[in-house]
Amino acid sequence: MNAPLADADLAAGRLLMAKLEAFAAFTDEPRRLTRLFLSQAHRRAALAFIAWCGEAGLQAKIDAAGNVVARYEGKRAGAPALMLGSHIDTVRDAGLYDGNYGALAALAVVEALSARAERLDHAIEIVAFGDEEGVRFRTTLTGSLALAGNYPEDALDQRDASGVSMREALIEFGGDPEHALLLRRKGVAAFVEAHIEQGPRLEAEGLPLGVVTAINGATRLEVGVDGVAGHAGATPMSLRRDALTAAAEMTLAIEERARREPDLVATVGRLEAWPGATNVIPGHVQFSIDIRAPADANRARAIADIEARISAIATARRVSASLVKTHEANAFACDPGIIAGLAKAVEAVGVSSRLLPSGAGHDTMAMGKLCPAGMLFVRCKGGVSHNPLESITVEDCAIGLKALIRFARDFRAS
Ligand code: GLV
Ligand code: MN
Ligand code: MN
Repeated sequence: MNAPLADADLAAGRLLMAKLEAFAAFTDEPRRLTRLFLSQAHRRAALAFIAWCGEAGLQAKIDAAGNVVARYEGKRAGAPALMLGSHIDTVRDAGLYDGNYGALAALAVVEALSARAERLDHAIEIVAFGDEEGVRFRTTLTGSLALAGNYPEDALDQRDASGVSMREALIEFGGDPEHALLLRRKGVAAFVEAHIEQGPRLEAEGLPLGVVTAINGATRLEVGVDGVAGHAGATPMSLRRDALTAAAEMTLAIEERARREPDLVATVGRLEAWPGATNVIPGHVQFSIDIRAPADANRARAIADIEARISAIATARRVSASLVKTHEANAFACDPGIIAGLAKAVEAVGVSSRLLPSGAGHDTMAMGKLCPAGMLFVRCKGGVSHNPLESITVEDCAIGLKALIRFARDFRAS
């Protein structure tokens, strides 16, 4: 079921698509979209977002934690707010829509209301989080954790690969590290994040929209493997303590463990070897593990198994391995009231409401500790994400926006 869109809905969708395309110009790398937390490109994107908010009559600002925030008052000043938004940081070589869709769609909701001078019983607040991908620093979600009153204070001392601390980067960006700890919001009645699905289910079922029921729990680990660097020509194979071949075996063991269990996924997404020369046996390797599952107990069991396998491989290969947990988020159940409200809004715009879980992590997990929270998914081509080939249609972009506007109008702060 997919109702035809009115010309005005399509025009709003086209405008949103054009903004998403223009927004991709804010990148840290030429010819590909890379916008890491608190980078120059992130700051330029934040300022552009603020300027667009200004065009819609909103005074937006960068808050202490590096989020862009703005408020569209309801009929009564100071009324409880429905907060809408997503993140504007990206992975390296990203697509245009992950996060950016939800942040710019939130602004488009206010643009639609403001164009008609329409005020609701509640305020609408817009947020463009900056730290969802966790690519630059080890921690992630600091922006949404801050609004929920759970800012991880120790995150500020983390350093990026160039040695810049999050504290220094946040100050440079226009944030305020000391006040990030005090950002816990009052008066937010609910949070809703629109986002591309990043998976193939909606496309497979011929549906443009989905309503998220739950978000998989996730753990990130950093593994350091120490062997002995040596001469690639002069050291016999039997005498080597090669950190990279050990890490390779560990990576395959991680994959094998994850494959044994439906719905559990594990990824080694980054691996670096030192000293990194063709004629030197690698003496040190650092790699990341990302493990996710819908059930926290299954994830915990998998982590324990993986730790045991890494330790056994290290012993057999006469290297040492150390593991540090850098991120942990339990599975998150979306609020039943928000799920019902989003399902109603989706049906109201002429689409069957498909309920589905999210395999990817989202700021909604952190916001759910502050207030009822939920998510609207928009179909993406082939389920492809974290890839420049990410793609959505103008029609899906428009119908997602229409459903979000409908939800915002029908929302009642309890
Ligand atoms: C964010 O995109 C994540 O799920 O890692
Ligand atoms: Mn995202
Ligand atoms: Mn992402």
